[in-house]
Amino acid sequence: MSKSSPTSRSGRFASGPAADVAKFTESISFDWRLWRHDIMGSIAHAAMLHKIGVLTKGELAQISKGLEDIGQEIADGNFEWKEELEDVHMNIESELTKRVPAGAKLHTGRSRNDQVALDVRMWLRNEILELSGELRDLQMAMVELGAKNVDVIIPGYTHLQRAQPVYFAHHLLAYVEMFDRDHARLIDCFQRVNVCPLGSGAIAGSTLPLNREFVAKQLGFVDHNDKPLVTQNSMDAVSDRDFALEFCSVAAITAMHLSRLAEDVILWASSEFHFIKIADAYTTGSSLMPQKKNPDIAELTRGKTGRVYGNLVALLTLLKGLPMTYNRDLQEDKERLFDTTDTIRTTVRIVGAMLENTSVNKTACATAASDPALLATDLADYLVRKGMAFRQAHHAVGAVVALAEKENKPLNQLSLKELQSVDKIFGKDALDVFNLQKAMAQRNLVGAPGTNEVKRQLARWKKLLK
Ligand code: ARG
Repeated sequence: MSKSSPTSRSGRFASGPAADVAKFTESISFDWRLWRHDIMGSIAHAAMLHKIGVLTKGELAQISKGLEDIGQEIADGNFEWKEELEDVHMNIESELTKRVPAGAKLHTGRSRNDQVALDVRMWLRNEILELSGELRDLQMAMVELGAKNVDVIIPGYTHLQRAQPVYFAHHLLAYVEMFDRDHARLIDCFQRVNVCPLGSGAIAGSTLPLNREFVAKQLGFVDHNDKPLVTQNSMDAVSDRDFALEFCSVAAITAMHLSRLAEDVILWASSEFHFIKIADAYTTGSSLMPQKKNPDIAELTRGKTGRVYGNLVALLTLLKGLPMTYNRDLQEDKERLFDTTDTIRTTVRIVGAMLENTSVNKTACATAASDPALLATDLADYLVRKGMAFRQAHHAVGAVVALAEKENKPLNQLSLKELQSVDKIFGKDALDVFNLQKAMAQRNLVGAPGTNEVKRQLARWKKLLK
């Protein structure tokens, strides 16, 4: 049987937890990661306890120094975490109390219920800021890859069938838009993470005159006007994990975008497409087939989506049946949240690095983009310009395509006579439609893959992201 914990079982319990119980209920094996924020939170709480007269100046100094020393030892890898002390909160407090008698006053007006909510919020705040920068870097890597290949045209696909020509950069910028929405969601989510729950106690606040706003300010829970942001209902505050759930759902959408990008990269890197070449350092080989160079980063990116979705569903399920307020079930939130942040952050970084180490095979792209069928819609627009109703034009061009197929010729090799056999309206200038450069120059609607518009969009993103 393990030694009883001095902080959670003293008094009420005659014995410590059975060894299997300690193993089953511990969270120190994963929540140790919250140590930095646990210490920051405790120092702010102690400063507040001094402010309201619970701690003397000397006691506050001892507690702060004790916590800082412990922090240093943890950072140096010299701190011994104890499973029988359950979690990061009790490990740190118990060690502090061993060293500093005033440590016994630190938990005044506080419960692990509001403490853990505080720690996770502070930890997540930091992760969000890091991820936000990493998303920006990924966007920039895509903009730069597009800018480096600004003249490259590829077929755009619908149903994975060739549809219409687009600039390679336009295709990349589609993802830049997606990651921008992810970024906006992330920043929005931050607002709900950035609210201080400390002072909610176990469930019902405290009878002591705690200064919640002071703690909030100390820990950076403030709005743009430096006004402290504190939770407004103690019961909600200790049992709410919406902020974590929200982050996991933002991450799930980001993972979905990364997975779609990965799928495009995998297709593009295949011999069939051959649009891109990923540098050797960012690919892997086969243990059997010597010729293979596999896009494993992209495949794992696609594969990791499953765990990010899984974490979201696990959290939703974890929360759905909980009566008010704190229940130990909530301890299960951390591994899902940690795994989500770790997975999404590493993936965003590695995908950015992979793209920085990817080159475009201009010849293969040009060959694919030279398929005149990609401009069949332009031919219909030509007829519309001549006054034909679009439905009729669509039909006429369909007949032209069928004729070309029958004659076994590319669309742009049909003679004027052959075109006119479909409809007399076709003029000498009809075949000009198949000039790809001209065709691209004409697509100048906002958001279209036109020569000028794509350049404008690249410039817009460069300015926005720098
Ligand atoms: N390790 C716990 C968790 O992660 C901390 C809160 C425990 N509170 C309690 N009353 N047992 O949720």
